[in-house]
Amino acid sequence: MLYAYVQNYLREDIYPFHMPGHKRGRRFFPAFPLDFDMTEFDGMDNLHAPEGVILRTQEAIARIYGARESFMLVNGATSGVIAAVCSVCGDGDKILAARNSHASLFSALLFSGAKPVFFYPEMTARGFAGAVPPEAVDRLLRLHEDCKAVFLTSPTYEGFISDIQSIAAVVHAHDKILIVDEAHGAHFPFHAIFPPSALSQGADITVNSLHKTLPALTQSALLHIQGGRADGDRLRFFLRCAQTSSPSYMLMSVMDCVLRRLSEDTELFETYAAALMETRKTLSNNISIELLSQSGMDPSKLLFVIHGGYTGAWLEKELAEHYKVQLEMSGRGYALAMTSVADERRGFERLVRGVSELSRMIERADNRPDDRPDNHPADNHPGNHPADNHPADNRPAPDQAWPRADVVYTPRRAAAMPFETVALRESEGRAAAEFITPYPPGIPVLAPGERVTREILGLLELLKTEGGRARLRVIQDTGE
Ligand SMILES: Cc1ncc(COP(=O)(O)O)c(C=O)c1O
Repeated sequence: MLYAYVQNYLREDIYPFHMPGHKRGRRFFPAFPLDFDMTEFDGMDNLHAPEGVILRTQEAIARIYGARESFMLVNGATSGVIAAVCSVCGDGDKILAARNSHASLFSALLFSGAKPVFFYPEMTARGFAGAVPPEAVDRLLRLHEDCKAVFLTSPTYEGFISDIQSIAAVVHAHDKILIVDEAHGAHFPFHAIFPPSALSQGADITVNSLHKTLPALTQSALLHIQGGRADGDRLRFFLRCAQTSSPSYMLMSVMDCVLRRLSEDTELFETYAAALMETRKTLSNNISIELLSQSGMDPSKLLFVIHGGYTGAWLEKELAEHYKVQLEMSGRGYALAMTSVADERRGFERLVRGVSELSRMIERADNRPDDRPDNHPADNHPGNHPADNHPADNRPAPDQAWPRADVVYTPRRAAAMPFETVALRESEGRAAAEFITPYPPGIPVLAPGERVTREILGLLELLKTEGGRARLRVIQDTGE
């Protein structure tokens, strides 16, 4: 809708005496297709108070996602998470939140002044943060009846899903609101090989990053509401606060165009699903680079656990250097490849070849422990030896073992307090005045107002050896 509208407008060749200052990019960026970078003049509607083409576009998106209302976001899922929490919790209100949440939840706590009651997902057999148990949510809601909402992430960055249907039933039995950060699940409604969307399972507010798993531009995202619990007017208010007053028509037009195309041409996802499942089947034959495959996971994420003491960084580097494949991320004993409907067969083929050859190389090296090959199987470039000090298989990857938070002050209060900077070893017992957030996956190991426990200090020391911080901002001791 919006895409076609802007396209028609451009055909009329009307000269732009309006923002943006690049004037369709013609003189300064002739190679960039900047025509769609528009502004809100007559007929172009207004994202923050839509009445025309943007309203109709959002209504079409709501039909695709089965939402009561959908909102296009131009400041990423981050802005949706902030607006969602602020729309439900005010200063001092309690929110039950999964501690393995993305940094945007902590920003939402800071802006809203909400008081977090943290809970933790189960750890999977391979040491990843997995599903949130509905019973734990029930138990905590009984203990904290004054919580206004429950916030959790499903799927996680690595693709682990929670049983949203059961969690929603628990949350609603307590008459609370369920907010699901589904940033990594925008593709779920488009094919049955993916888990059902959180919205279809009863969540009240969900947030999708379109740019993560669908062919959309970076920063584009959606917020959906359904049922009678979420307050659309309060959300609109906070979305206006959390987002730019100059929303990009490039982002919005691409969102419209992509979602329309995917919903009309179902063959696109059929082809992707078939190629993905074939790729997964071949990769599952590998032994030393194990493709995790279990129910409760999003199949679009190819999550590899690497055996034999080799690291994720090693796999990432080998694949980039020798097979021209760049992974999404690597951890100490694992690595992650992200796929999407825009993937091409040649990409899947390169990945399969690289991972399978490297897996076989580890097996050969394992059989001859003192005779690990210096040469790479793909060519004669020197390969990397695995580091010796990495966790044995099956132990939780430290990237995933979130230490228990000890919240001394809410993030809002902590951010307003005087701070000082101390050496890491002097920080134990003190309350942090800043975020320490390894990226990816962008989950803070320490947030403002949280105490530096011995366990957290150990993690910070480990991060320091990997180039992390040697000093930390802590809240000044005011004798309170
Ligand atoms: C789980 C999760 N939620 C939210 C976000 C924020 O998304 P965005 O980059 O679209 O603001 C991310 C980004 O990495 C994420 O992983």
